[in-house]
Amino acid sequence: MKARVSVHRDFRISTIDERLYSAFIEHMGRAIYSGIYEPGHPEADANGFRKDVLKFVQDLKIPAIRYPGGNFVSAYNWEDGIGPKDKRPVRLDLAWRSKETNQVGIDDFAIWAEQAGIEMMLAVNLGSRGLEEARNFLEYVNFPGGSAWSDLRREHGRQEPYGVKMWCLGNEMDGPWQIGHKVATEYGRLANETAKAFKGFDPTIEAVVCGSSNDRMPTYPEWEREVLEECYENVDYISLHKYFGNKSKDTLNYFGKIEETGRYIQTIGGVIDYVKSKKRAKNDVHICFDEWNVWYHIREEDGRRIKEWDWPEAPALLEENYNFEDALFVAGLLNEFIRRSDRVRIACIAQLVNVIAPIRAEKGGPAWRQTIYYPYQFASLYGRGDALNVAVDAPTYDCSVADDVSYLDVSAVHDREAGTLTLFVLNRHLTEKADLDVELTGFGTPALFEHISMEGYELTDTNGPDKPDHIVPGKGTGAGVEDDRLRGALAPLSYHVLRLN
Ligand code: AHR
Repeated sequence: MKARVSVHRDFRISTIDERLYSAFIEHMGRAIYSGIYEPGHPEADANGFRKDVLKFVQDLKIPAIRYPGGNFVSAYNWEDGIGPKDKRPVRLDLAWRSKETNQVGIDDFAIWAEQAGIEMMLAVNLGSRGLEEARNFLEYVNFPGGSAWSDLRREHGRQEPYGVKMWCLGNEMDGPWQIGHKVATEYGRLANETAKAFKGFDPTIEAVVCGSSNDRMPTYPEWEREVLEECYENVDYISLHKYFGNKSKDTLNYFGKIEETGRYIQTIGGVIDYVKSKKRAKNDVHICFDEWNVWYHIREEDGRRIKEWDWPEAPALLEENYNFEDALFVAGLLNEFIRRSDRVRIACIAQLVNVIAPIRAEKGGPAWRQTIYYPYQFASLYGRGDALNVAVDAPTYDCSVADDVSYLDVSAVHDREAGTLTLFVLNRHLTEKADLDVELTGFGTPALFEHISMEGYELTDTNGPDKPDHIVPGKGTGAGVEDDRLRGALAPLSYHVLRLN
C-alpha cells in the first residue's frame, strides 16, 4: 500500500508535557511486594528494593509515578505505613481481598522513587475517609517541620519535606465497586473542598479530580460535567481511565480502539470547555489519563480467583503476559496521546511491575521486560518536544468500534533544542507492506541517524523468564532520506522509530 505523509515543523499541536510518559503503581498483587520490594532476594539492596527491577525502571526515564492506588487507596490508612516496620499493622485490603502488611509506606516508597529518579504523584483516600486524613497526609509529606505530622516524619528519619506537587483526589469514585463510591455531586463537592484546602496550604499544588472509570460507564460523560461543575476552579486535571483488549481476536478492531480513545479524549475536552464557559472560569483544566494499558488475557480468571481466595498476602494478580500484538497496540495508543497532547498533559501506564505491567519479576527469581516495555520506553526517551500535526494519506478500514481507521499510524515529535525529529510509525496492515513517502518541510536537509524497528514476530509471541529477549527492538533497514523526503518500505504489522537531524 502507498502511504504518503507530510510533516511541517511549524504545524505544532503542543509542547508535550513530559509527564505524558508517567506510570502508576498500586499496593495490589505483587506490584510492590516481590515486585519492586523483596528483602532477601539476591538483588535486594539495603532497603529491600530489587536492583534488577530498579534498573529496568530507570531505563524508562519515567517522569512521575501515581501511588498508592487505585482501588486500594479507597480504604487505605496512610498512617499504617509509617514508623518502625515491626510496629506496622497488617490490614485487610478490601479492594483486592488480600492482606496488606504495610512493610512499604510513604517514606519507603519515596526512597525507591528517588532512586528511580521519578517524581511522586500521590492519591488520597476519599472513599472510606475524607478531607481530614487527606490534609494530615499532605502535612506529613510536604510541611518542612514544626507541626505534629511533619515532626513525626522527621522522627521517622526524613528531615526534608518531599514537596509533592501532584495530588489525586481519590480514585474511580463513579465506580459502584469503589469503597466509598459516591454520586457525582457528592464527590464533586468533596473534591472541591479537598482541592481548596490543599491549595490553601500551597497554591502551586496541582489537583487531579476523578473522571469516569471508563467511557462505558452508564454515568459517562454526565459524571464529568457534574463533578466539574462542583470543582472546576480548584482543580487542574480530570482523570481518564481505559483498559484494552482483543478478546474477539480481531486485530484490526483492536487497533480501532485507539481511534475510540481519541473520541473519549475529545468528548471530555468538550465537557471541560462547556463547564469552563458555563462558569466563566479563567483557569484551564487538562486531562490526566492516569490509568491506561492492555488488560484482558487473564482478567476473567483473576475475577474468579479473587472471589474464592482467603485473604492471601501479595498474591499473583493481573499478571498479564503481553504479546507482540499488544506491543503494537501500546505503540499506537502512545501515538494517540502525542497527537492529543494539547489536552492530555499527564498519562500513566497502569501499572509498572507485575500487575498489568511492562516489567515482570518472579519471586526469588529473575526480572524481565515484556513486549510493551519497548514502545513505552521509546516514547518516553524520544517523544519529548513539540508534537507536530501529521497529515497521512494511506488506505483505511472500518471496524466495529470505528470507521476510517488508517493502516498507517504516525506521530511526530520535534525537539527544537536537540534539533531532532522523531517519527513513531506503525504499519498496521495485516499483509501488505507500506511504501512510506514522507514530505519534510522546514527541517533543512535532514538525515536519518537512527532507525529502530520491531517486526517479524507472530502476533502471539511473548517474552518470559525463560526467553526474556525473544521480542526486542532491532536496527531497522530500508528507510532513508532522498531529496528531503523520507522513504522506506515498512513490513506489515511493524513498528518503527525514525530519528532525523
Ligand atoms: O489498575 C488496576 C485497577 O484498575 C485500579 O486499582 C483501578 O483504579 C482500576 O479499576
